Amino acid sequence: MSATIDFIIDDKEIQGRPGQTILEAAQQNGIYIPRLCYREGLVPHGSCRICTVLVNGRPQSACTQPIAPGMIVENDTEKMNGLRRNIIDMLFVEGNHFCMFCEKSGNCELQALAYRLGITAPKYPYMFPKRDVDATHPDIFIDRNRCILCGRCVRASRDVDGKHIFEFVGRGPHKRVEVNAEANLADTDISMTDEAVEACPVGALLKKRVGYAVPIGQRLYDHKPIGSDIESGVAPASSR
Ligand code: FES
Repeated sequence: MSATIDFIIDDKEIQGRPGQTILEAAQQNGIYIPRLCYREGLVPHGSCRICTVLVNGRPQSACTQPIAPGMIVENDTEKMNGLRRNIIDMLFVEGNHFCMFCEKSGNCELQALAYRLGITAPKYPYMFPKRDVDATHPDIFIDRNRCILCGRCVRASRDVDGKHIFEFVGRGPHKRVEVNAEANLADTDISMTDEAVEACPVGALLKKRVGYAVPIGQRLYDHKPIGSDIESGVAPASSR
């Protein structure tokens, strides 16, 4: 088997390794493909569809689709970014995302993607769903108003922490993240250092008593758009 696979993303010839996904190979070559449910170190979920690219003209999720010789991938095009804007618009209106009051602002991947893609206000009507907050645990709380159902906490708790604390329950608009316990988060053995807490891309899982330790204006995406680290060649170590 060849040691490398040649293919094209947005008219640029790149090389990847056998077994890599499109997203991984792109990242290795300094090309950012927007993503939300994907997180390095977790099994890809392929559920948010933000990373959707066209492969030889057909839509595929870049976080799950393996590379193949000669494939032609369209990523950073007006068409694909327009589709991503639509998904992000819908995520904003189907939850209750008040960025100006959220501790995650500036570190939030949903907010950062909206900025990167030029969204200033959602175009769909807000749904203002009624969702629960679980603040029973002494160190961590869940605000389901901000949950985008990416499943990163579910996979991180199951596969990295080995605790199986979170799982999806319900269907359609009633789908939500629940805890594997008698009643609520306080009945679990979650801890501040769990990968599940770090894995949340939005402000749905937050630590108590550390709010605003990093001031607004000095946070991860306050100065550079999300994906800039990949485009400047400072990709996360495990993708190199
Ligand atoms: Fe690929 Fe969510 S990042 S489907």
